[in-house]
Amino acid sequence: MHLAQRFREFALREARGNSPLYHRRALDIAADPDILALIAQLPSDKQQPNLILAAARIHGANAVPYTEFREQVAVGWAAIAATAMARRTQTNEAGRAATLLPVLASLPGPLSLIEAGASAGLCLYPDRFSYRYGDIALDPVDGPSQVVLTCATTGAVPIPSRLPQVVHRAGLDLNPLDASDSADRDWLSALIWPGQDERQARLRAACAIAAADPPTLVAGDLNDKISELVRAAPRDSTVVVFHSAVLTYLPPSARAEFRATVRGLPCHWISQEGTGVLPWLAGTLPERDWPSARLVSALDEVALAYAAPHGQSLDWFGVG
Ligand SMILES: C[S@@+](CC[C@H](N)C(=O)[O-])C[C@H]1O[C@@H](n2cnc3c(N)ncnc32)[C@H](O)[C@@H]1O
Repeated sequence: MHLAQRFREFALREARGNSPLYHRRALDIAADPDILALIAQLPSDKQQPNLILAAARIHGANAVPYTEFREQVAVGWAAIAATAMARRTQTNEAGRAATLLPVLASLPGPLSLIEAGASAGLCLYPDRFSYRYGDIALDPVDGPSQVVLTCATTGAVPIPSRLPQVVHRAGLDLNPLDASDSADRDWLSALIWPGQDERQARLRAACAIAAADPPTLVAGDLNDKISELVRAAPRDSTVVVFHSAVLTYLPPSARAEFRATVRGLPCHWISQEGTGVLPWLAGTLPERDWPSARLVSALDEVALAYAAPHGQSLDWFGVG
């Protein structure tokens, strides 16, 4: 796609309604040949609007008028480009635990959790967060968490009466991030869009939980590493492989390979991906006209619910 068009699409399809600053900024960039010419020097996969805007923020080009922003980007371009080359869009959203939890809690515990595309592994702590599903409050056994996830629900969501016991946390990522490393935390923070202050607070609190009790995080491609992680999990536990907002980055053949591998392993499989990402689920989805993008939550290839991208809502397919 033409670069200006890429920024326009990002503004209109993703940022509009979610971040007024990014909405305006991406439209301004789309209409600025000088800034587009700088971005065009990067390889195509590094020209993502989300990546460029986060890299610019890390180097101080943030909530200022566009004339100032473009000046900062032009002057600081070498550093911004270096960050874009070194980093990836690895948004780690602990809020997604709220839409994973009802599926996880439907399995017999104790659980061994293995996350593919884990980023810093913040979704590996569903037992350490507090949840608010409408009037229903759920807290860890030792009391309310600093991470409180609020999730609106429709349909017969099987909200558990207590949190599952997790005895093993492991993840893999092409580039695992470290919640105890300040540069990695700064990058995760820069990936949260301007104006989403609640997500910033959640990120800080979730990083503190992960830093205090780090998961096992392995570097590598999910198709190369998932089998060894499943085999390394304790045998006297229920092993669950899960992922959210990850397989969309893989070509269809690699998604199919992952499906075949995971289905052959002694584990359950929870996927939370966009509606078109796993074609074998597409035909089973109810026709609904959702206001914005949704992920599909599925257990062992049975689609169960639509989940909002950051865990804000869960729409269960069954009405009970
Ligand atoms: C959008 S982030 C989502 C992180 C986390 N799952 C969450 O929900 O917060 C996608 C992650 O998948 C990782 N990833 C993408 N392709 C991968 C692959 N082939 N193997 C392993 N990790 C991959 C990226 O590095 C990134 O950290």
